[in-house]
Amino acid sequence: MEETKRKADTVRLQNFAYGHKTASVLLAAIELDLFSKVSEGAGTIEEIAGALDISVLNSHRLVAACLGMGLLTKDGSNYSNAPDVEKFLVKGKRNYAGPWLLAQKGDFERWKNLGDFLRLKKQPSVLGGYENYTYENAKALHDATYSVGLGAGMRFARQVDMSNRSLILDIGGGSGAYCIAAVQTYPHMKAIVFDLEPVCRVANEFIAQWELSDKITTHPGDFTKDPFPQGADIMIQASNLPQYSAERLTDIFRKGYEAMKPGGEYHLVGEALDEEKGGPLGPALWGIAEVFAGSEGRSHSEKEVQKYLEEAGFINVQIQDFIPGSLSRISGKKPD
Ligand SMILES: C[S@@+](CC[C@H](N)C(=O)[O-])C[C@H]1O[C@@H](n2cnc3c(N)ncnc32)[C@H](O)[C@@H]1O
Repeated sequence: MEETKRKADTVRLQNFAYGHKTASVLLAAIELDLFSKVSEGAGTIEEIAGALDISVLNSHRLVAACLGMGLLTKDGSNYSNAPDVEKFLVKGKRNYAGPWLLAQKGDFERWKNLGDFLRLKKQPSVLGGYENYTYENAKALHDATYSVGLGAGMRFARQVDMSNRSLILDIGGGSGAYCIAAVQTYPHMKAIVFDLEPVCRVANEFIAQWELSDKITTHPGDFTKDPFPQGADIMIQASNLPQYSAERLTDIFRKGYEAMKPGGEYHLVGEALDEEKGGPLGPALWGIAEVFAGSEGRSHSEKEVQKYLEEAGFINVQIQDFIPGSLSRISGKKPD
């Protein structure tokens, strides 16, 4: 049977323009701790109103919006959390990602004016948003990144066999989450977090909380211009891909190659596009966000990253899924 062609309407376009509304519903629900209360048993509109200390009318409104977004599911007059919400948005659970999602609130104002930023023709800067970075900036960002970074670090440690490796260099390691996860999984390993000085101070605090200061150290510096610590046999560079240009990334990979022990592996975990650059949407949005930072960066495809790593000297460069729709892992080896 021939498919009936749907007449174009404005629904898809309107839903894009309403993006701030869906973001706000999610963030309000997290702030009010709706999902923890539902997980603890508040199942009806009235129970949710009582648990959140809001009116029954507002409970109707919030629950309907969350249901429409698929954050809650309904069975009769009872509501439950969708599986991802139950896993990541219940306070006190190991995977609680609320801090990272709530941190996006700080972005609303400038996104509203994206068109104005796109018209600017200022000379881009290498460090973009990281110029004049303070401890307070770093603490706010990495309290948030840590809430999702530890899970990603655990996934990395499960995917990459490091049993015969001895030293990780985490380039732009942020909170130290990937190193903490790796050293928990492979207690014989040592690790270095290489990041800007204020970020290293924050990483040291997380590392101390895990009592891992004897195994994980920090190395303050700018990886675009300062020398890399020598001798690592695993290098990780996670979640800073769209901040840099093709030329800058190739230079960074080359510096990594030169500082790496022969036989070592470089793992770029990044927000990368597919071959045709048709998506996923998340990495494309990280690319356009660089307009606010005023950096040289843009989104790169997995194939482009593969080429940069090969140009830097790495062999066996492979593209692997990491968190589908969000992060790819592109890995290469330095010959023995
Ligand atoms: C989004 S965070 C990701 C942190 C960590 N890799 C993770 O995945 O949890 C990006 C990190 O890259 C660091 N970074 C970016 N450019 C840098 C540079 N030129 N030198 C040192 N660190 C840099 C930032 O300070 C920040 O900590």
